Amino acid sequence: MIKKITACSTIFFLVAAPVLMLAQTAINPYKYSVRKKIECTHGAVVSAHPLASQVGVQILKKGGNAFDAAIATQLALAVVYPGAGNIGGGGFTVAHLANGKNIAIDFREKAPGNANRDMYLDANGNVQTNLSQNGTLSTGVPGTIAGLFAESKYGKLPFKELIQPAIDLAEKGYVISEREARTLNEYQKDFMKYNSVTPVFVKKGGWKTGDTLVQKELAKTLIRIRDNGAKGFYEGETADLIVNEMKRSKGIITHEDLKNYQAIERDAVVFNYKRDYTIVTMPLPSSGGVLLPQMMKMIENQPLKSFGFESVKAVHLMTEVERLSYADRAKYLGDKDFVKVPVKTLTSDEYVAERMKLYNPDKAGNSKDIQSGIIQKESEETTHLNVYDNEGNCISITTTLNGEYGSATVVGGAGFLLNNEMDDFSIKPGVPNMYGAVGGEANAIAANKRMLSSMTPSVVLKNEKPYLIVGTPGGTTITTSVFQTIVDIIEFDMSPEDAVNAPKFHHQWLPDILFVEKDFPMNVREELQKMGYQIKQREAIGRTEVIKISDGKIIAVGDKRGDDTAEGF
Ligand code: DON
Repeated sequence: MIKKITACSTIFFLVAAPVLMLAQTAINPYKYSVRKKIECTHGAVVSAHPLASQVGVQILKKGGNAFDAAIATQLALAVVYPGAGNIGGGGFTVAHLANGKNIAIDFREKAPGNANRDMYLDANGNVQTNLSQNGTLSTGVPGTIAGLFAESKYGKLPFKELIQPAIDLAEKGYVISEREARTLNEYQKDFMKYNSVTPVFVKKGGWKTGDTLVQKELAKTLIRIRDNGAKGFYEGETADLIVNEMKRSKGIITHEDLKNYQAIERDAVVFNYKRDYTIVTMPLPSSGGVLLPQMMKMIENQPLKSFGFESVKAVHLMTEVERLSYADRAKYLGDKDFVKVPVKTLTSDEYVAERMKLYNPDKAGNSKDIQSGIIQKESEETTHLNVYDNEGNCISITTTLNGEYGSATVVGGAGFLLNNEMDDFSIKPGVPNMYGAVGGEANAIAANKRMLSSMTPSVVLKNEKPYLIVGTPGGTTITTSVFQTIVDIIEFDMSPEDAVNAPKFHHQWLPDILFVEKDFPMNVREELQKMGYQIKQREAIGRTEVIKISDGKIIAVGDKRGDDTAEGF
């Protein structure tokens, strides 16, 4: 019997096989529920999949801290949410510890050592997006496993305990949701085209809601990681399997690339908003660390609150702010270990004030007229999860394969999908990537360089205390969704639920289009069109997860746009 999906209700009631409890946990992978919101006092996890959120909470209950729970949740997502949860991709972690320390861990993929600037251009200089977006030539050196071990430095429980639920889920299988069945079916052709060893995701006759997905090879890979640490991925049998896959499919990742991969702890970006708020977010190669402070500073002195949520005036102001920031993104942003990026200037009050002179409160801007600022010299699949623990630690992680199911190539014999993150580089100046973002020299491909990202895991403090943990997938819409969610809560006094689920909008300078979600009010669209905006409706913008902490109460909310689930106790 299958029940229809509704928020906070049991969605799967499938007894396709005898109910089996995962070892060490009381999690039932054959019967689980989507829960959109939880209010609790001890700790909470919100992620894209009910089983992953449950795994995280189990770890908290066992005495693990937010890092332990986040590691276990990420690993579980790599099994139960294969479109984006991953061990073959990369991402970013932002954390605010109970002792006040801020942490930013960069486990973004990097270009292989044999990558070069023009590797996706044909003999005539034309871009070959089929190569930057599919198959293993599109794959950056994966960072996720290095990231998990960098996080585990701050955890309390042994890694072996944190990875075991994922191993059990892979080995014994779990029932798939209607959403998972649908997306797996959409990608059947790609899985067949981009794999020479047929992966477990291919199913004759297609997938149905309630089918059990068992991933034995992935379980073996996870066991090698459990037993050998990061070397269980970057060296030995898993590395051999990755390199063999490269040979079969014309990829260029070598044993040396894998062995040399390092996650990097960076200084988190920390800035104030008005008197009470401090925002902690991810620095480059996440563009969020530049765009979020720019956008927040651009609205800081504007009477946004008096305009009202999704009023014409508010949407106009926020759209123009997004346009201005994205113009700078295209020109200046890239991996600052490779190119000089004037971050300090771009986020300075003076620069931001100067940029706001281009804002006309009565008229839509025009991206032809609004270019990036002049700087003299300086003196759609990803997934997000948040955890808050009873010690007061906050952790916010966005991780990705880039497109849904990444490159669509599963490492033969190792059972995990490889990313197609190379497409996040500017493969040719001025040519948009799969999210329509243009870039230039700063984000050109170079060996071992990290590609620019939009992922913006963030923590907001209020009067120096944890207040919001926030993040989302969504390609270039990530930064604008995080911006809007924070503004909706801080400025428009919206509940986290409304801020997450209310219709979002997005402008990224180029194309010069204001994108809105289906439920975005028609009358506001019409008024904005009169002001000169070209408006286009698009699919869901983001899948935002929020944890709000106030007056000793924890409220965790998962986005209605997916199976996202909040759990806590
Ligand atoms: O790092 C980035 O900005 C992209 N690779 C993220 C992709 C993404 O969010 C797709 N999800 N919908």
